[in-house]
Amino acid sequence: MDSIYLVGFMGSGKSSVAEEVEKQLNLPLFDTDQIIEEKTNKKITEIFAEDGEAVFRDLETAVLKDLPSTDAIISTGGGIVERQENQKFLKEQLCVIFLDASWETITKRLSNDTNRPIWLNKDRDKQKLLESRKPIYKSVATLILKTDNKEPDELASEIITHIKG
Ligand code: S3P
Repeated sequence: MDSIYLVGFMGSGKSSVAEEVEKQLNLPLFDTDQIIEEKTNKKITEIFAEDGEAVFRDLETAVLKDLPSTDAIISTGGGIVERQENQKFLKEQLCVIFLDASWETITKRLSNDTNRPIWLNKDRDKQKLLESRKPIYKSVATLILKTDNKEPDELASEIITHIKG
């Protein structure tokens, strides 16, 4: 089976949906942010603050390309599409799912978040960022799922039905 790549903005539910797919399919789950934290032994906020976003993006690209392209679930960071190289890589994959959440859902989910440097950065217009990334997520996706008002297990079932269909 081709690996399942989950893409979408921060707070769109990639991690929780990935965990549900993992449970239902019993496949290994890889989370690019988590792998970067383990490799560097630093929190993402620390990498952004101490090394800068470009270093984080380099690590993210390397991790993405290193993960198994079969028999795995891969939850990506919301900014994975920032690099054209990653867009090209994702377009070559056969199962890329865009979890499409509205701005309202995202702001609700992330209201108390302290782990996402871009979300916390007052100088960045996050709503504009969402609007500018949306067409890119769509362009790399083989399936688009609206996630507003849906539970992770429901979305996981939709993904599995899609794969098996
Ligand atoms: C980012 C999203 C985060 C994380 C980093 C940058 C982004 O991942 O990779 O904070 O640029 O949107 P999540 O989508 O898991 O929050």
